[in-house]
Amino acid sequence: MNNSDAATARKVVERGFSNLLAIPAFVDGSNAAFDAKSGTAQLGTDVSVNALGYGGAAILGPTIRIRQGEGFNLAFSNNLSEATNIHWHGLEVPAAQDGYPTDVTAPGGSFQYNFPVKNRPGTYWYHPHPDMSTASQAWRGLAGFFVVTSPEEESLGLPSGEYDVPLVVQDKRLDGGLTYNPDTDDRSIGMFGESILVNGTASPVLEVATRTYRFRLLNGSNARIYNFAFSSGAMFHLIGSDGGLLDAPVSVSSVMLAPGERADILFDFDGQAIGSELYLQSNAFAGTATQGQQAFYLLKFRVTRQEPDNTLVPDALMPVEKIPESQAVATRSFNIGHMMQHGGMDGMVMHPIDGKTFDPDRRDDVVKAGTVEIWEFDNSAGTETHPMHLHAGQFQVLSRTGGRGFVEPWERGWKDTALAFPGEKVRIIVRFPDLKGKFVFHCHHLEHEDGGMMLNYEIQ
Ligand code: C2O
Ligand code: CU
Ligand code: CU
Repeated sequence: MNNSDAATARKVVERGFSNLLAIPAFVDGSNAAFDAKSGTAQLGTDVSVNALGYGGAAILGPTIRIRQGEGFNLAFSNNLSEATNIHWHGLEVPAAQDGYPTDVTAPGGSFQYNFPVKNRPGTYWYHPHPDMSTASQAWRGLAGFFVVTSPEEESLGLPSGEYDVPLVVQDKRLDGGLTYNPDTDDRSIGMFGESILVNGTASPVLEVATRTYRFRLLNGSNARIYNFAFSSGAMFHLIGSDGGLLDAPVSVSSVMLAPGERADILFDFDGQAIGSELYLQSNAFAGTATQGQQAFYLLKFRVTRQEPDNTLVPDALMPVEKIPESQAVATRSFNIGHMMQHGGMDGMVMHPIDGKTFDPDRRDDVVKAGTVEIWEFDNSAGTETHPMHLHAGQFQVLSRTGGRGFVEPWERGWKDTALAFPGEKVRIIVRFPDLKGKFVFHCHHLEHEDGGMMLNYEIQ
C-alpha cells in the first residue's frame, strides 16, 4: 500500500454557465489537410489559456465527416515543438496509419493519413498517441470527432444539422493554464481538473428549441468518469454506443462513460416552457473510492424557441450481428488488477498488465485475422478503474462478473472501450479484422496508458 490509496479526484467547481457552447467546424474527410499547433484559446469570456489545437482551432479540432466506404485522406503537418501522431479511435485502420506509439511525426514534419473507412456509421474520434506523451498532448487540447455517415443511417430520419450536436466533455485545471504537470498522486489515480469543458467551452450554455436533439457524447477526459443524466431526471433514448447505432433504442435515465467511450442519445425538449433551463449533469456513482462521490452540472440548456418536431424515434435502428461465443478459437485473460509500481526516474508510477509495462519491441500476443477470440480483463484484485481499449476494431461485451455484475445498456452493440471497476472482470468477444500488423490495447485512463498499461498484439 502507498499513500496515494487515499487520494481522490479533485472536486469540480461550477461557474455561471454563461458561455455559448462552441461547435467544432466540419471538414470533409475524403480530402482534408490540417496541422497541430499551439496557441491561445479563449474558453469563455474571462478564460484564456495556452492550448494545442488541430486545423486552426485553438483547442480541439474540426469534426471530420465522411461516408462509410469512402477513402479518408488527410495531409497532416506537425507545427508543434514536440513529436506527435494521430490515432483514429474506434476505426479499423491499417497498422501503419493507426498512430502506433513510436510512429511519430517530428516537429515541422508531415504525414499523409489514408485509409478506407470500413466502420459502421457512428461517432468515433481522433487524438494523439505518442509513447508516454498521449496524456500530456490530449490534456493540452488535442482531440476531435470523426463522424461516419451512411445513406442507411440518413434514411432513419434522426435529428440532423444543428440538431445533431457533438459534445466532448473534459475536465481541466485552468489555474495552471492547461500545463500538464502531474504529481505522483495524479499519475496513480489520474489527472483530474476542477473545471469542466464541453467542446472546449468553460461553463457552457446551449440555446435549444422545443424538439428532439441527437447528442453525441464523448468522454474525452484523461481519467474522469461521467454518469450522464439530465437535471430534470427525464428518461432519454440511447441509440448508439462506441461502434455506431444499436439495433433498437433503449430508454434510460443515465449513461456512464469512462475516458474514450461514446454514447449517442436522443433527448426531447418538447413541453419545456420558453425561458426554462435544465442541465446535462454527472450523477454521483459507486464502484470506486477515487471518484463518483460528487454530482455536478456539465452544460446548461436554455429553451429559447418553439419549433415543430417531426422526429419519430424508430423502433429499429441498425442490425447488430451478434458474435456467437461458439466461434471463439481462444480465450485470453489479462490481469489488470496488479498494484501499481513506483518506478525509477521522475516519480513515474507504472501500471502493468499481467505484470508487464509497454515495450514497443515486444510482441505480447499474436492472433489470426478473421478469427474470433474471447478476452477477459480481470480487475478482481484491483483497486483502480480501468477502461480497456483495443485498437484495430470493435468488440462486444459478453459479461461482467463481480462489482456491478451485469452488462450495462450502454454496453450493447459494438464497443471499443469497456470499463472495469475494482472487483470486476469484463469479458469481451472480438473478431479480428483483416489487417496484418502490430496494434496496441491499453487502459484509456491516459495516466495509466502513459504509465505503461499498454501491450502489443499482432494480427497475422
Ligand atoms: Cu483512444 Cu489507443 O486510444
Ligand atoms: Cu483507439
Ligand atoms: Cu487504468
